[in-house]
Amino acid sequence: MNRLAASLGRMELQSPVAVASGTFGTEYFDLFDQSVLGLYVSKTITLQARTGNPPPRLYETEAGLLNAIGLQNPGLEAFIGEELPRLREVLKVPLIVSFSGASIDEFVQILLALEKEEGLAGYEVNVSCPNVEKEGIAFGADPDVVYALTRRLAELTQRELIVKLSPNVTDIAAIAQAAEAGGASSLALINTLYGMAIDWNTGKSRISRPVCGYSGIGIKPVALALTYKTAQAVRIPILAMGGIHSWQDALEFFYAGAAAIAVGTALYCDPLSAARIMQGLREHMEARGLSLKQIIGTVS
Ligand SMILES: Cc1cc2nc3c(=O)[nH]c(=O)nc-3n(C[C@H](O)[C@H](O)[C@H](O)COP(=O)(O)O)c2cc1C
Repeated sequence: MNRLAASLGRMELQSPVAVASGTFGTEYFDLFDQSVLGLYVSKTITLQARTGNPPPRLYETEAGLLNAIGLQNPGLEAFIGEELPRLREVLKVPLIVSFSGASIDEFVQILLALEKEEGLAGYEVNVSCPNVEKEGIAFGADPDVVYALTRRLAELTQRELIVKLSPNVTDIAAIAQAAEAGGASSLALINTLYGMAIDWNTGKSRISRPVCGYSGIGIKPVALALTYKTAQAVRIPILAMGGIHSWQDALEFFYAGAAAIAVGTALYCDPLSAARIMQGLREHMEARGLSLKQIIGTVS
């Protein structure tokens, strides 16, 4: 009996643990057995290649990480020609491709190109990256736009359609409901919060783009609250993330309403953290005689 079997929209998963987009390269699979993961989410791709922001792009704060990578990626064509064949070869778990666009048509163009490709279980639609002007936040902050975008994409695919939400909005539940109404089969949340760090000695921003993305341990209470609020507002399942470092953290997210979780920044501290989390969850569930599906959303 697999006590940790999970369901995410149209997918049945062997494990409720994933890696968060942009935080984990498949080269780490040399270090542990990838079957501890339920799915693998790729780094976000865009239609054209992007060089991202200039360095410095990462800064470790007292409680988490600031990043301004700026969606660096090889672009759709190179992804399909070079990266995807490699991922297909390496991965033994379902592949979710994350993508973002500057207009609804651009999102559609990317999805249509990926639909022609084999070996993908689905998509994570990144409407939430706060680093790039016009891409991401303009989409993710407006329920009408999220609805229109999701509807267009949902009409074009039978694969898993995950919409990834930003925490940098007034009412995440309204955005989540818009994605659900548009036909998303699941949601992912949260992307990075806005963050900033300044060198008090020089007055200079620590990162090349002063307002950038904040992730890791310090955002966990925020991510947990937004997971809970969203789970109360929608019926579709949630792939939750934000500061998860331990199996105990993961359990909190399941109790709040997550159907599965992703590990991101923790992998920078310990590339084995996803494997450790899965092991801890397995032992805990076994010791308590529980299964994952019994505890999802049962916070009291
Ligand atoms: C260096 C870095 C790069 C990221 N790149 C992406 C990305 O390409 N697409 C995306 O949707 N999220 C990206 N994220 C956000 C993560 O997927 C995740 O939503 C966020 O970091 C919160 O989880 P965590 O606290 O466990 O890291 C990135 C995060 C970091 C730290």
